[in-house]
Amino acid sequence: MTGINQINTKSADIVWQKTDIGKAERCIVKNHKPCVIWFTGLNCSGKSTIANALELWLNKLNYHTYLLDGDNIRHGLNKDLGFSPEDRAENMRRVGEVAKLFVDAGIITLCAFISPFKDTRKAIRNLFEKEEFIEVYVDTPLEVCKQRDVKGHYKKALLGEIKGFTGIDSPYEPPENSEIVIKTAECRIDKAVDKILTYLKEREVINNFTL
Ligand code: ADX
Repeated sequence: MTGINQINTKSADIVWQKTDIGKAERCIVKNHKPCVIWFTGLNCSGKSTIANALELWLNKLNYHTYLLDGDNIRHGLNKDLGFSPEDRAENMRRVGEVAKLFVDAGIITLCAFISPFKDTRKAIRNLFEKEEFIEVYVDTPLEVCKQRDVKGHYKKALLGEIKGFTGIDSPYEPPENSEIVIKTAECRIDKAVDKILTYLKEREVINNFTL
């Protein structure tokens, strides 16, 4: 498999251009700390739903956010990529770099991607300062995801009409040390959002909230 860090075609003649305004100065304007909230989980696990509900609250509380969602990014920046392990690694590499730019801009960046491979998730985590990367494992059993099948993908995959579908004929490697675990089969969306907001407050990413 192509590793996220193995792609390196940068010319030796490219030198980093320093700028006077950096992350710290941008954070002063924003009045909050930037971070990445990385949602990982199976198709239909609830990543996008929870990320969307969380962003709604953060926006209501006046925090500057952006949501990068797998399905949407694959309509534009990553529309040239499929679902082979190599393409998924490239999908992650680009999204990791985009998220890094957003964090540098001082924004609370929500990312909702299946991100099935442990090594790739680790490589993305390594792009950020320790306290900047918060992984949320949306831990929903495959059977529940299959029943939800919002877009009919599981049905197609089980009929062999989609190849390399996560959880069916492509693996999902569950995280072991996520900062937050949400079991959507047992936890309502508002409770999940509450759990993440409480964590963000404890980590002093945000100052206050009342649901
Ligand atoms: S990832 O594996 O590279 O992280 P990503 O989150 O960007 O995946 O995209 C997942 C979305 O693509 C799913 O929500 C689903 O709608 C769609 N999709 C289409 N084909 C596949 C496939 N083979 N495996 C998983 N998702 C697929």
